[in-house]
Amino acid sequence: MEFSEVIQQRQSIKSYQPDKEISDAELKELIQEVVLSPSSFNLQHWTFIAVKDTGIKEKIQQAAWGQEQVGTCPVLLVICGKLNAHQDASEIYKNVPKEVTEKVLPLINDFYEGKDQLQRDEAIRSASLAAMTLMLAAHNRGWGTVPMIGFDPEAVSKLVNLKPNYIPVMMMALGYKQDDPKPRAYRRPIEEVVRMNTLDGPGLKG
Ligand SMILES: Cc1cc2nc3c(=O)[nH]c(=O)nc-3n(C[C@H](O)[C@H](O)[C@H](O)COP(=O)(O)O)c2cc1C
Repeated sequence: MEFSEVIQQRQSIKSYQPDKEISDAELKELIQEVVLSPSSFNLQHWTFIAVKDTGIKEKIQQAAWGQEQVGTCPVLLVICGKLNAHQDASEIYKNVPKEVTEKVLPLINDFYEGKDQLQRDEAIRSASLAAMTLMLAAHNRGWGTVPMIGFDPEAVSKLVNLKPNYIPVMMMALGYKQDDPKPRAYRRPIEEVVRMNTLDGPGLKG
């Protein structure tokens, strides 16, 4: 599929064919593309918990305002961000020349260590960029997705056994769509969305 077709056609899918599965091999191929997403210092804060178990999905659905797609999608992804991902830097940089790591590893540590808000921001940024890649890569394969933050993060964290150094950034339903989505939701005009040079500058014309 043409890349701009993928972007223009993707819409949030809220009803799924519950019996049309996505195999683990297919999921793996998808995630192999998703992990090519960018992240600050290449720290790759993301972890994807792929929930296929019906019982766990039902419990998560209860913790997600009863949203139907949570229970009916064949794969529910809990997209998590690792708060202390900077502590993985030495592993991530293990194949990088020593003269580089001698500089970059202390820099990464100083940048993040003890900075809770920054660690959280980064976990959310990286996981969100990966989530966007996932939505586009899934659409390219003919699968639907919907990102979700309508859930109780503490309850969901417990249900998927998250440790305190991980946060559930968003959930993503994944599967074959049941119905076509509603007409494209309103988008703000480009002149309003793009301001030239400063926030109070003129809107982009073209
Ligand atoms: C961070 C985020 C959280 C969202 N949470 C939910 C949700 O909990 N439930 C839901 O049905 N849709 C959710 N959505 C989907 C949005 O409603 C949808 O993306 C938006 O209306 C634009 O529609 P489109 O995705 O079809 O272009 C969420 C989207 C984002 C990006």
